[in-house]
Amino acid sequence: MHLGISLVLSLSLSYDALAAPVTALHPQKKSKSFRVERVRRSDYVAHGPAALRKAYRKFGIAPTEFTGIDLDDFEPFDLPHTGKSASFNQKSDESDQSGSVSATSVQGDVEFVSPVQIGGQTIVMDFDTGSSDMWVMNTNLPQSSISGRTVYNPSNSSTYKKVDGSFKISYGDSSSASGDLAQDKVSIGGVVVEDQVFGLPTSVSDSFLSDENSNGLVGLGFTSINTFDPGPQKTFFDNVLPDLDEPVFTARLKSEAVGEYEFGIIDHAKYSGTLVNVSVDNSNGFWQFETGQFAVGDGSLQKITDVPTAIADTGTSLMLVSPQVAKAYYDGWAQYSNSVDGYIFSCDTDIPNLSVAIGNKFQATIPGSLINFAEIGKNKTTGGTVCYGGVQSNSGSSIQIFGDVFLKALFVVFDHRGPSLGFASPK
Ligand SMILES: *[C@@H]1O[C@H](CO)[C@@H](O)[C@H](O)[C@H]1NC(C)=O
Ligand SMILES: *[C@@H]1O[C@H](CO)[C@@H](O)[C@H](O)[C@H]1NC(C)=O
Ligand SMILES: *[C@@H]1O[C@H](CO)[C@@H](O)[C@H](O)[C@H]1NC(C)=O
Ligand SMILES: *[C@@H]1O[C@H](CO)[C@@H](O)[C@H](O)[C@H]1NC(C)=O
Repeated sequence: MHLGISLVLSLSLSYDALAAPVTALHPQKKSKSFRVERVRRSDYVAHGPAALRKAYRKFGIAPTEFTGIDLDDFEPFDLPHTGKSASFNQKSDESDQSGSVSATSVQGDVEFVSPVQIGGQTIVMDFDTGSSDMWVMNTNLPQSSISGRTVYNPSNSSTYKKVDGSFKISYGDSSSASGDLAQDKVSIGGVVVEDQVFGLPTSVSDSFLSDENSNGLVGLGFTSINTFDPGPQKTFFDNVLPDLDEPVFTARLKSEAVGEYEFGIIDHAKYSGTLVNVSVDNSNGFWQFETGQFAVGDGSLQKITDVPTAIADTGTSLMLVSPQVAKAYYDGWAQYSNSVDGYIFSCDTDIPNLSVAIGNKFQATIPGSLINFAEIGKNKTTGGTVCYGGVQSNSGSSIQIFGDVFLKALFVVFDHRGPSLGFASPK
């Protein structure tokens, strides 16, 4: 009798155990869309110069354009590395789910991160349309680099497989991450890619470790610039494409609130007016589009003569425009400070809007409020607080990088068809 019952029980238990992966697979059927919220880091402290350095590093930009003057009446806040101080804490208004706030300094260059499941382990990562590698902090890194983080442990995953090959990302300033390649089940918003290939760094330079809360990147640029050896491996987006209703993902990044990425669907309730479709030149591997004109406030449109194209980059915090645009935008109300490598202004300034033409059909307006990026120091003459601009110069580089400051003003569709980008005013 007892034997019979326990046999039934154990059968049903193992049936459940077998059934579990089938349930997990269910969302992979055709006709699919899914959403991922961006999680605001609980200890996020916006730091302009760190964000700028990160962007320059990422795109190999040398900060050579400006030389010279330190402003006598400007005193930057003295913060180790950027770190935390009461005066910088005004944005720490929401909590992330881990709640583990490190005591060491944070470079404040990634404001939002999103949860990703790798081999069943939830890791908080940064979605980056400006690169195409996926890599994750993991237990093969020296203990000192991963203490306090929730990282991927390949030996705890029954679906982990080693992949022959290696990866190495290096930036202009010799910072790098390198190591092995792995393959595992990666699930984002409930949609599973069974065999996503990603990097498992065994060595990571300090500039990557300085961001304590993002434990890796999910590259959402084009597969052509994936850097893995022996050859490009598909991005997560390319891998889920066949399963999506529509071959798109959208970004609705918000200021001071949780934003959202959505895959497989264009949610028409998220924007007002027309969604304008511009073609993307992906020959450099980026979501690159034409932007030939700009306007300051309600001034008239001016031609951008130096770099009339830009990329949409969710992995960059700032909006980096050509020197021509930066100079024209800040003319008369802000100053360039050598000590913090960027345009600064009095925080109580009424900041003008900046508009840029997208293709030749749409004018995107970035409200001045988004261009007040963070407090950076003090005006010694007036005692007033000085702020760092969310719009900065691309230092004469051949590309303008339109990061979160720009994207937060819009509803953006990253469309595999074309490829193309769709822009609209968010609701
Ligand atoms: C400090 O304030 C004075 C007076 O308003 C102004 O002229 C100067 O440009 C300010 N300096 C900075 C660095 O904001
Ligand atoms: C993962 O594996 C380590 C040993 O490698 C173990 O200490 C830890 O408890 C495991 N974690 C989980 C969630 O299974
Ligand atoms: C800035 O743009 C917003 C729309 O994004 C508009 O409501 C506002 O009036 C503009 N401000 C100025 C000073 O032009
Ligand atoms: C954008 O344009 C491309 C053709 O260039 C087209 O295939 C795609 O469907 C369009 N996207 C939307 C959302 O209309």
